[in-house]
Amino acid sequence: MQTYEGTIERILFDRTEIAEAIERLGRQIARDYAGQPLLLLGVLKGALYVAADLARAIARSPGGPSHLEMDFLVVSSYGNSTRSSGEVRMLKDTSENIGGKNVLIVEDIVDNGLTLSYLQALLSGRNPADLRSCVLFDKPYRRRVDVPIEYVGLVAPDEFVVGYGLDYQEKYRNLPYLAQLRSWVFSE
Ligand code: PRP
Repeated sequence: MQTYEGTIERILFDRTEIAEAIERLGRQIARDYAGQPLLLLGVLKGALYVAADLARAIARSPGGPSHLEMDFLVVSSYGNSTRSSGEVRMLKDTSENIGGKNVLIVEDIVDNGLTLSYLQALLSGRNPADLRSCVLFDKPYRRRVDVPIEYVGLVAPDEFVVGYGLDYQEKYRNLPYLAQLRSWVFSE
């Protein structure tokens, strides 16, 4: 994209690799929830694309849930910085009650793990029938908490990454691939 020209250091996963990872996750999830209802719970803003693409990958896969609902919540801990504040802020909670449901949290990325850990603790207190987590990009290098993740798409390198939903100062989310930015971008 013209606006971002010159600021991308390298592409880490192109659109084909991302699509293949999501198809793989869709097949696993369709198999594991075959014949059961499923609530996909996307964590915005970052998970906007993965939640939408994963829901359709599940629909294309053999077997699959008896029906699939989608809901979203909005949390933030990075603000405009490249470093997590360490404090997760809930900006918008779920619209539906999750009690008694099979809930699958859908995240774009897990890094220090605080966001997902916060959500798992919060949501498990609301008595879902089952609670699991699906993450498209895992950065396992700087965990501050141990967090169980049942479905992982791709392991990303230990770099600040953007694209496919992930931002730097709210930009780059619409890139169709995952990329590393040139370091001078952060010092501007
Ligand atoms: C990002 C991402 C995850 C979280 C992961 O969200 O979408 O929710 O950080 O990081 P952690 O494992 O280190 O907690 P962010 O707070 O940037 O908000 P956004 O989704 O609106 O971009």
